[in-house]
Order: sequence, then structure tokens, then C-alpha cells
Amino acid sequence: MIEKSFVMMKPDAVARRLMGKVLTRFEEKGLKIVAMKLIHINEDLAKTHYGEHSDKPFFNDLVSYIISSPSLAMVIEGDDAISLIRKIVGATNPKEADLGTIRGDYAMDMGRNIIHASDAPESAKREINLFFNEEEICDYEITDNIWLYE
Ligand code: RTP
Ligand code: MG
Repeated sequence: MIEKSFVMMKPDAVARRLMGKVLTRFEEKGLKIVAMKLIHINEDLAKTHYGEHSDKPFFNDLVSYIISSPSLAMVIEGDDAISLIRKIVGATNPKEADLGTIRGDYAMDMGRNIIHASDAPESAKREINLFFNEEEICDYEITDNIWLYE
């Protein structure tokens, strides 16, 4: 099923100039970028986005990290995109993430794991609506679809 996921390169990915390399992984896999913006997330938005973790001991550090510098927010579309992107991103702790995943290849620390991706259809919908208006999400065809999908 064609799905949309909310994906965000966190402040460390932007500051470490990893945006191009990370984006290339999604593009080369055959996923389609349908929305993208560089955004310096404020405290309210960070707290809402990560609201499910508000009672966790790492919550304040997580919010400080996310608001520290700009992030690159995206909506990425493709067949089974939500679970597929989680696989491409890798485990939350970069030390446990498989090599070949984004976190496994580019990050060292749980609190600096460079990228976020929605974990389920409901969270994808919620997160996309939190960061993007309907008009900011592009509907377009890519001509290589006949070579990506049977
Ligand atoms: P994300 O939401 O950012 O895509 O990450 P995730 O699903 O893989 O992991 P999640 O459990 O949702 O945690 C959200 C973010 O909080 C930070 N974290 N720190 N110190 C800790 O124990 C800890 N646990 C989580 C990470 O930045 C994680 O991505
Ligand atoms: Mg999460």
C-alpha cells in the first residue's frame, strides 16, 4: 500500500552537513520526496511532536536537542513507506543499529541519532499534519515507477 511517512533530519544531521547523503539513501531506494522544509523547531512544537515521551527521563534533553538548531522536515511516499523507512533509519540506539542503516553508519549516540521517522500509520498522519499544510504536500508522478513497481 502506498503510504506517506514523516521523516525529519534532526539538528545534528543538518549541522554535520549530512543532508545530501541521507536524502540520497531515500531517493536511491525508490522513495519519493513529496514535501520538505528546513525548520528551526520551537519548544511547543518539539514537545507536541514527542508528546508520547513527556514522562520519560530523557524528555527534557530530547526537547533541548531538537530545538537547538534547524531540522529538515520531510514527507516521504512509497509502497509500505512507513515500515520501510524505519528499516532504512535503523535502531534508535546508533550503537545497536545495523551497519548499512542511516543511524548505524552516521551516528554514535542515542541522544544524537540524526533522524526521526514515523513508527505507524496513525503517528505518520499526526506528525505530517503537525509540520505541513495540505498545500505543501506535492502530488506528482515520477516516470521511473514502471521500473520500481511490478
Ligand atoms: P524517533 O522518534 O526520533 O524517530 O526515534 P525512535 O522512534 O527510534 O525512538 P523513540 O523511542 O521514539 O525515542 C525518541 C527519541 O528520543 C531519544 N531517546 N533517548 N536516552 C534515552 O534513553 C533515549 N531514548 C530515546 C532519541 O533521540 C530517540 O530518537
Ligand atoms: Mg519514535
